[in-house]
Amino acid sequence: MTSTEAAVLPPLAAAHMPVGIFDSGLGGLSVLRAVRTLLPDEAIVYAADSLYAPYGERDDDFIADRTLAVCQWLVAQGAKALVVACNTATSQAISMVREKLPVPLIGVEPGIKPAALQSKTRVAGVLATQVTLRSARFQALLERYAADCRFLCQPGHGLVQAIERCDVGSAELRALLDGYLQPMLDAGADTLVLGCTHYPFLDTLIRDIVGDRLELIDTSVAIARQLERILDQQGLRAAPPAPGETPPLPRLHSTSDGAHLRQMASSLLNLDVPVEQVLIPSRRTAAPDSLPV
Ligand code: DGL
Repeated sequence: MTSTEAAVLPPLAAAHMPVGIFDSGLGGLSVLRAVRTLLPDEAIVYAADSLYAPYGERDDDFIADRTLAVCQWLVAQGAKALVVACNTATSQAISMVREKLPVPLIGVEPGIKPAALQSKTRVAGVLATQVTLRSARFQALLERYAADCRFLCQPGHGLVQAIERCDVGSAELRALLDGYLQPMLDAGADTLVLGCTHYPFLDTLIRDIVGDRLELIDTSVAIARQLERILDQQGLRAAPPAPGETPPLPRLHSTSDGAHLRQMASSLLNLDVPVEQVLIPSRRTAAPDSLPV
């Protein structure tokens, strides 16, 4: 039986089981950081599909196929709830995956609502993958919340690739980002939505470029709060450790060799844990177009 087949068996969710967090790569670490801060007693199992990142360069069916496979794998690891910590995967696959999995699923989406609520100039920028920006879910978000606020939507081509290489500060990356942010400033934007979970790791570089002219909207804390609500509703909150014990460290997995995941977790989250390389088969990764991009 493959790990994919095993995952469709209904698990017996219980409070001591881990929360699963999934991203196409390293970006979900920004969500993991928020979850650990808010819910320090929760065990976490993290899966980065770095072999197939960036998802933003893939077709919709490929993204849905990988999202389902990795989420099923996390359920097979005993996850009691899942955070799809990837805007791109959420925009393409969350409804389908939710129907197929027997555990609560929390997705992420760009913070259009908070940006529309707080922008004073009524002009806001959005940086996200091309796939997220063209998705029906994102268009519906804009229709619902943008109201009188103008959103300048900029695909962040090249940004996920840089972060996957652990580049969060090179001169080339700075020039690329500058090209995305300058037109927003010129148009009078005062707010920037980070619509990809990789981008919070660019906050220092963004601050360097824009100073305090743009308020950054990162939804990772809101996602952690949503997870907290769902765990409470379902009676799935982990108990605090017994006296003398420490909360469990997250278990990190990657479909690539995991060296960059380990490096980012260590340098940006101060989390020094090994990364286990895992094989997660799926329908589309048996095909010739599945090679890493
Ligand atoms: N962290 C993913 C997101 O939030 C990156 C997508 C990609 O791999 O292109 O969209």
